Amino acid sequence: MLEGNLRLADGRARKQPWIPAAIILTLACWTVPGCGVAPPPSDPCEVNPLGCPATFVGSATCLTCHETFSRWHSLHGHSQALKGVSGGPPRYPDPLSPAGVPTPPLGLAWSEIRWVIGGYNKAANFVGNGGFLFTDGPGGPLTQYNLPFLISLAPGGHVPTSVEPVETLSYDYACFRCHTTGPLAMAENGGRRQENRPGVGGTWALDGVQCEACHGPGSIHIRNPAAGNLELPGSAAFCGRCHGDPGNPGHLPAADGFLLGHYQWAETLASPHDDFDCTFCHEPHTSVLHDRDLALRNTCQNCHSGANMARHEAKVFAQGDYAERVTCQSCHMPPAARNASFTLIGQARIGDTRSHLMNIDTMPRTFPSTLTADGTQLPTGADGKAAVTVDVVCLRCHHGGGSAFALNLEAAASIAEGIHDPP
Ligand code: HEC
Ligand code: HEC
Ligand code: HEC
Ligand code: HEC
Ligand code: HEC
Ligand code: HEC
Ligand code: HEC
Ligand code: HEC
Repeated sequence: MLEGNLRLADGRARKQPWIPAAIILTLACWTVPGCGVAPPPSDPCEVNPLGCPATFVGSATCLTCHETFSRWHSLHGHSQALKGVSGGPPRYPDPLSPAGVPTPPLGLAWSEIRWVIGGYNKAANFVGNGGFLFTDGPGGPLTQYNLPFLISLAPGGHVPTSVEPVETLSYDYACFRCHTTGPLAMAENGGRRQENRPGVGGTWALDGVQCEACHGPGSIHIRNPAAGNLELPGSAAFCGRCHGDPGNPGHLPAADGFLLGHYQWAETLASPHDDFDCTFCHEPHTSVLHDRDLALRNTCQNCHSGANMARHEAKVFAQGDYAERVTCQSCHMPPAARNASFTLIGQARIGDTRSHLMNIDTMPRTFPSTLTADGTQLPTGADGKAAVTVDVVCLRCHHGGGSAFALNLEAAASIAEGIHDPP
């Protein structure tokens, strides 16, 4: 069994110029409470908010009037996408999966960490007090923490982060824009850095993807809720700002023979559901991974009411600590994507993130063979569609290491064809 424990899909490697004078100055500054923070100007908007730009008020304020959405949101990965650290491990909300991130990278103390990125669903990365993203660096510690017992069957623990060893990597807009609320890029003159930390290239209003990341700043709404004054986003393109590449919506990037983990917009466009909003299936406030029963507005069977279970009615797959009752998405949404980890068992390929392509290719070919020659992209056909192959669909369970018997590529392909037909 070959295990791959990986860096983040988009862990870019870029050297940050080191400017000692500026760093010493700011270093001294952030240790002094209030230092570098300008005194609040007398705010005309406090007196008359109408016509003033709205500002961010934070999810705790929304909670006072929107109790249910706030409770759901507090369990969602969105609310946990960036965690401030103050001297100890960050706390996560789901009592059913309290694993969290027990220790920072080897050799570092929690007092040296300012933010943990994620750490709730699949993996964590770490940003130090200087505002730089920890990367392994030449001979350095393993700076990513993977959570254990994922669908990928990969063990948890500290693993390497980046492709090439780099010493310093700025935590900048390109990296935090999808993990924060109200992100702003660094100013052209090098100004605008969160908490004046030299390594951060830009600022944000709130850690994590909070209510106002989707609804816009709420200060005017809370004064006069009936007037609305908030955004009500809905389109797949809206979610695709973070779950895809807005500059190139159809692009399906791949690496290591898997799709990358956060391109659900592109996957949906390459699926038979290409004109769907994400919210046709998802309740946007509710976590698929932690609040499953409330997370899906429409299951597959709601719309495909005539479909049978393709010979897997009541079958349960088990391997070690992992168990899965076979559902429509067991085959149609296999983990053909990977964010932090994957496992290869014989011809079986098991990533850690479920795909949204839906269509299954029943030819005896492997998923990597359907990628571009350099393996960096999944091309779509003339109809704009793509499909998952039987190595990521059937062999994920039928590799012989778990409770399902082993199949090879050819056998799986021949059974897959017409698998919904009545026997
Ligand atoms: C003082 C109570 C209160 C607070 C605080 C509050 N809301 Fe509301 N909100 C309401 C009420 C009442 C409505 C329903 C208005 C209506 O239907 O006319 C509403 C409606 C909404 C809507 C639907 C708007 C629409 O156009 O249909 C959204 C979205 C929303 N709130 C989000 C938020 C967010 C985000 C926050 C925190 C920044 C927040 N609310 C804070 C009371 C509040
Ligand atoms: C285009 C938006 C976007 C950018 C830019 C982005 N991420 Fe993410 N990130 C996501 C999404 C969406 C997910 C969830 C996808 C998934 O579950 O695979 C995610 C998941 C993660 C996770 C796993 C979180 C958890 O709780 O398991 C980590 C860690 C992470 N990203 C780190 C980073 C780092 C480091 C960078 C900068 C190099 C970065 N991200 C840049 C959108 C983004
Ligand atoms: C990931 C984006 C996202 C986040 C984060 C988010 N919402 Fe929403 N919200 C939506 C979308 C999309 C809708 C549009 C309607 C729909 O499909 O339910 C919506 C609708 C609403 C509505 C109107 C519901 C209705 O039935 O009219 C309210 C109120 C609301 N959100 C409040 C909140 C509050 C409070 C929070 C934080 C606790 C929050 N939202 C966080 C995306 C988000
Ligand atoms: C046809 C229905 C459908 C549509 C459309 C859809 N999803 Fe999903 N999505 C699902 C289902 C079902 C799951 C859960 C699969 C499971 O775990 O069994 C899911 C899971 C996810 C996950 C978690 C994947 C993982 O394994 O960690 C993310 C993230 C996600 N969807 C984002 C999106 C986004 C963003 C969009 C829109 C671009 C979208 N989805 C459109 C049905 C849908
Ligand atoms: C501002 C960026 C952003 C936007 C907009 C956004 N997401 Fe996310 N989403 C993320 C990040 C980052 C994560 C990973 C959080 C983590 O796991 O720590 C994530 C994770 C998820 C997950 C899996 C986490 C879980 O707990 O189930 C789902 C499902 C999801 N998003 C659906 C949506 C949908 C649907 C929309 C649109 C209504 C949307 N997202 C809009 C950034 C965003
Ligand atoms: C909101 C309704 C809805 C939901 C939910 C939904 N679908 Fe669909 N699905 C459709 C529609 C509409 C089509 C297009 C039908 C057509 O082209 O004939 C479609 C097409 C498909 C197709 C291609 C059908 C073909 O004949 O080639 C597959 C496969 C599919 N869906 C699987 C799924 C799976 C698996 C799920 C659950 C993860 C799901 N769908 C959830 C409505 C839905
Ligand atoms: C999520 C795991 C999983 C996936 C994905 C999966 N299977 Fe299975 N399959 C099982 C389990 C578990 C059984 C029951 C094994 C047993 O009883 O020995 C089973 C049983 C079967 C059977 C025997 C059915 C019967 O009538 O008893 C066949 C044939 C089969 N699978 C083929 C496939 C093919 C082909 C695919 C891909 C299209 C596939 N499976 C995908 C887990 C899976
Ligand atoms: C064991 C794996 C497996 C399961 C479970 C499964 N499917 Fe399929 N499904 C397939 C395969 C493989 C195909 C392609 C068959 C072909 O091309 O002959 C397919 C084809 C389809 C199609 C395309 C049209 C058709 O009927 O051929 C739809 C729609 C569909 N499945 C929906 C569903 C829904 C809804 C569920 C849950 C009730 C489901 N499937 C469960 C493997 C599965």
